[in-house]
Amino acid sequence: MLELAYINDSFIPLEKASVPINDRGYLFADGIYEVIITCNSILFGLDEHLNRLQRSADAISLELPASLDEISKIIETGIKKAGFSESMVYIQITRGVAPRRHNYSTGIQATLVMTFRARPEYAPELFNQGVAIITVPEIRWSRCDIKSTALLPNVMMKQKATDKGCQEALFVTADKIVHECTTANIFIVKNDILYTPPADRQILNGITRSFILEQAERHNIGCVEKECYYDELCQADEVFITSSTIDLMPVVKIDDFIINTGQPGPISLRVRNFFPTRT
Ligand code: PDD
Repeated sequence: MLELAYINDSFIPLEKASVPINDRGYLFADGIYEVIITCNSILFGLDEHLNRLQRSADAISLELPASLDEISKIIETGIKKAGFSESMVYIQITRGVAPRRHNYSTGIQATLVMTFRARPEYAPELFNQGVAIITVPEIRWSRCDIKSTALLPNVMMKQKATDKGCQEALFVTADKIVHECTTANIFIVKNDILYTPPADRQILNGITRSFILEQAERHNIGCVEKECYYDELCQADEVFITSSTIDLMPVVKIDDFIINTGQPGPISLRVRNFFPTRT
């Protein structure tokens, strides 16, 4: 097993991989990314992730350097070469290498980079006992629907959460509207119905979020996408967060508020069972 990178059309050990200083990803965070994991060796939501990659590229007028089919083949090859039992694939596409100048540089080829590592594993108690999160002011831009590599606000606020011994930081506007966490979407459960903020430009439309909405509908669990407020969060029966790497993690404490009994609730546990089992 070997942590592997794909760059400039070839695979090399991750620690040997590098990009030029003039890569616009390095200079301006002028790029987009995706994180995909395997479950039982199958890529979870591959097509959905690739389609979102295309949407992010279109939103920043970035021409992908390879077709989605080609990208998909590189992913499959990389996973085999790296040889982990379960993998996490990181895909990053930046506008390319050019002397530093803010305007899009013309005539350059986008840089496609991938890394192949073991899927991160989380301590079972995070799922069994639930996690605490903090709320933080929404300081991000108004195109959070683009999966951009420009993540400084997310990085700063995730660190703030970690410093307070919490799993995540949740962005909440001055009007107390709840958006999402630094690396995950959020759901509220009230009277057996799921509520989650709408997939507008204020949040990333998570692949895990969409999976849950689909599965909930299939299993006759009511689901509403609507603006959610901080007060509703504190008075919820259950709260959980979702992302590709964590799938679903129950939240039992938000700032100083204990959610309901302070234990993961039955709907969170039921919804978590919709995911392929992680062995
Ligand atoms: N983050 N919102 C934000 C801001 C995210 O960064 C992520 C994922 C999500 C959940 O999206 P998905 O269900 O498609 O993983 C929501 C990835 C895992 C990351 O940046 O590492």
